[in-house]
Order: sequence, then structure tokens, then C-alpha cells
Amino acid sequence: MNRFASWWKEGVIYQIYPRSFQDSNGDGIGDLRGIIERLDYLKWLGIVAIWLSPIFRSPMHDFGYDISDYKSIDPIFGNNDDIDELIKKAHQSGIRIILDMVLNHTSNQHPWFIESAKGIPQPKRSFYIWQDPVKGKKPNKWKAAFGGNAWEFDAVSGQYYLHSFLKEQPDLNWRNPDVEEAIFKELSFWLEKQVDGFRLDVINLIVKDEAFRNNPFAWGQTIRPYDMQQHIFDRDRPETHEILKRMRSHIDTYENRMLVGEIMVEKPGNPRIVASYQGEDGDELNLAFNFSFNWLPMKAKTFEQTAQIWYESLGLQRWPCWVLSNHDVTRAITRFGNQEEKARIAAMFLLTQKGTPFLYYGEEIGMKDKRVTRNQIQDPVGKRYWPFHPGRDGQRRPMQWGPSRQFCQSDVSPWLPYHPEHKKNNVETQIADVNSLLHMYRNLIAIRNHDEALRIGRIKFLQHDIPDVLCYVRESEALIRLILLNFSKKEREIPSSLIAHALGDPSFRVLFNTRQDQIQETSDSIILRGYQGLLLCEGE
Ligand code: NOJ
Repeated sequence: MNRFASWWKEGVIYQIYPRSFQDSNGDGIGDLRGIIERLDYLKWLGIVAIWLSPIFRSPMHDFGYDISDYKSIDPIFGNNDDIDELIKKAHQSGIRIILDMVLNHTSNQHPWFIESAKGIPQPKRSFYIWQDPVKGKKPNKWKAAFGGNAWEFDAVSGQYYLHSFLKEQPDLNWRNPDVEEAIFKELSFWLEKQVDGFRLDVINLIVKDEAFRNNPFAWGQTIRPYDMQQHIFDRDRPETHEILKRMRSHIDTYENRMLVGEIMVEKPGNPRIVASYQGEDGDELNLAFNFSFNWLPMKAKTFEQTAQIWYESLGLQRWPCWVLSNHDVTRAITRFGNQEEKARIAAMFLLTQKGTPFLYYGEEIGMKDKRVTRNQIQDPVGKRYWPFHPGRDGQRRPMQWGPSRQFCQSDVSPWLPYHPEHKKNNVETQIADVNSLLHMYRNLIAIRNHDEALRIGRIKFLQHDIPDVLCYVRESEALIRLILLNFSKKEREIPSSLIAHALGDPSFRVLFNTRQDQIQETSDSIILRGYQGLLLCEGE
């Protein structure tokens, strides 16, 4: 087997929000040279790839999710030589690079849109979705996810254009084959530069209903009007699958590349829809994000059931991936009451599932969220919906490298304030403490990287009646591992018979323990302490 054939299946992928990771030039905003400076850390952590949130030229209305040139790096982050150097140095360190491609929309400053907006009869017009008014009003009732109606009137032509997010983010018209051709060329540009894969932003939104039918009403979960519609006509259109099949074939003309897609669904998640984007025959996205775990309470049964549904939705042909946090949702540790012991259990769950784990920068040190004050808000969502929605700045604060201002090595203020806890909780202090969360992540990633059962083995949840405890087995041809996770603060007793049955051996060894203390054994059981996780294998 080619050693690298399935890097995206077997390794841990680390998401960097470039604005917040490492500033190298003292402007308070992270950049590519900053990431280059931190490659040694990432290598030490043991991850296989980094996914960079968008770094392309952009007016930054949505911090890069509004691209005005797919082929050049925004000056805030550096230049094209810097990305070439990052790709080269990352590869030398055994780290692959995944770029974030925003293909549902561009910036309104993209030359395609500027051209498109010039008037009606010219080729770029149909790169975007323009519609005549209907009875003097907007073409339909579709809403923008970031507030207001999804249509913006253009006085030059007397038509409206569609924007699923901000009005500065016009939606591309994927029904036009020229759009597909143009985008595939942009992808090739980066594939030829040896980029290893793409994360595709809201990829299930790219095709819209041809007749622009109104969405049916839905009982919303939030005050957002967008949530009061069932999005059956402005997302998940069947034609999307055909496009993704072609995109995958295009990517596969290069060796060892991958696509991971963001599938926008409402809470509490929709694993079956998400799985469908990996293709009936596994011929669309290589991986698709199932956000169910971004919203779940920390309960053993809920975690198990949700995971089971995800595995069942994918079947054996499609590979799962796992994610607890990202730049759009409250960090997992904060959702779990800022309790590190819970974060440890969640981390162990993430790193021992069958499938590719994704980490969000800072997750490995238990970085927490804290709302910014109103005058510090940067995120357009926060600006629009404050105080009902605080926006996403809390989860995008600067990486906590050390007790002094190590994110930006000057006295300037970072673009978002540090979390108040950064002086005591940071990479430096955690490296110095072998029992820290950071060491826990690193050790478990190292075990995983060298353990066939954890990387590619089957998974089986064991049925039992011990409350709050998850028990599952990972098994490859040669190896068998048992994972025990106590989701409660109370001690739980695990019968030796369960362990012996799972491992096929009455004796066992501890490969990993989330706590430092010795394991307490009775004659016929072991005691799991509160929020303790264990990884066991057979043998003395
Ligand atoms: C999803 C991205 O993750 C989010 O950050 C962005 O604002 C929207 N897509 C719009 O591109």
C-alpha cells in the first residue's frame, strides 16, 4: 500500500484560523510566516495536516470567507511566496496543507462580480444569480443566513442578485458550466502548487432551485429569520451531487489529494444529509463534517447514540470524520462548563473514534471562549445580532502561546483581545507540565499514530448497564483495544468480566489513562474515577 495513500484517513487534522494563530510582523494579525514559525510545534503535536481558514485576497467583510481573488494571498497574511514556503516547509515536516475554498459565493469585489454587475448582456453576467423583480418586489422570500433578505437590488440593471450570506458575498451561479470550469481552474492552480486538499465552505448550498420556489415555513430555533424556513430550495439541490462527483474526479487526477466539505444543516445536525455528500459510492467528498457533536451535551448515552447514527449513515464504504469545535461555534470546553476534566473525556472520545479527528487551534490546551464586549465585536454576525447572538469572536481569540504577549511579538494589541486566562493557561506552561492537557493530546495522538486498531480498526460499542460510562472496542486484524470513558464525576465500577470479554483475555494493560493516579482494582472489577478515561489492551 502506498504509505501516503490515506493520510487524510489516518492522521489528525488541525484547523488554524490564520488571523489568530501567530503574528510575525507586529500588526496584531496572524499571518503565514507566523504559521511557518510554529511548524515545529505542530510537528511535535503529531498532526498530519493543517487546514487554514481562508487566506486569499479579500475585503474581509467575513474575514476571508469573501474571496476577491482565489489565486493570491491577502497582504494581511503575506504573499504567494510565503504560501509556497509554507507548503514546502510543512511538507518537509510531514505536514500536509488543506486550503479553505469558498465556492458558494465570492466577494462583491471579485473581478467576476464587478464585471457581472456592469449590465445585462455580457458573459460574466450569468456567473452570478440575477433575477428580475416579481411584481415590483424581491424575486422570492429566501433569507440570508447573516440577516435580512437574500436578494440585493441593483439600480444599474434593475435586477436583484442573490446572496446567501452578506450582501458583499454574492452567490455564484453553479448552473452555468463556465463557473464550474473557472473554479476548477482555480483549484488546479493550488493543486499544482502541491496543496494537499480543500475544505469546501457550505458546499451543499452551491445549487439553487431553478424556479426559485419559496421555502416552506419552519419553526425556528433562534430569532434568525433564516431559521424559520425549511431550506429545501436554496440548498441540498440534487444537482450538487453531480458537481461534486466531477470535482472529485478533477482532484483525483492529482495524487493523494482530498476534499472535506462543510455541510450546512440545522441543529441538532443531520448525519444522513451530511453522509450523502460523500456520495452513494464514496465518489464525492472524501470527508464531510457532521456537526452533531458541536451542539451535544456531555452525556455518555447521547454521545454513543449520535456516534452510532453517524456510523450507520456512512456505512462501511465512506470514512467518518469527527469535530468538536471550529471557528463558528462555541469551543467544546466552554460548552462543557469550562471543565478540563470533561474536555479530557471529549478529547479521548474524539481521538479514539473510527475516522479522522479534526482539532481547532487551542483545543489541545483547553482554550476557552469568552464573549468580547460590544465595542470589541469584529464578526458581522455579532454586529448584526448582538446581544441575542454574541457573534463568533469568542472562539477566534489569539492563540495562547505563553504568559507574555507571544501571539504578536510587539506591543500592539491583537485584532481580538486575549482570553483573560492566557497568562496562566498557555502552550509554554503546559509544555512544562507533563500532566497537562497538551501532553495528554500529544501522547494520545502519538499512540494513535502508531496503533493500527485506533487508526483504521473497526468500532463496536459494548452494551452494559453501568451508568454514564461509554465502552467500546477498536479492532484491526492483529490488535484489539478497549476504551472506557466515565462521563460522570462519580466513581464507576467496571466488572473484570466485561474487560475480559471485550479483550478476549482476562489480563489487560493500560495504554493510556486521562488521570495520573494508579488504577484501583478489586478482585472482580476496576474502578473508574470521575471523568476518567482508559485505553486498554490485552496482556499483563
Ligand atoms: C461557513 C464558514 O465556516 C463561516 O465562517 C462563514 O461565515 C460562512 N460559511 C460564509 O462563508
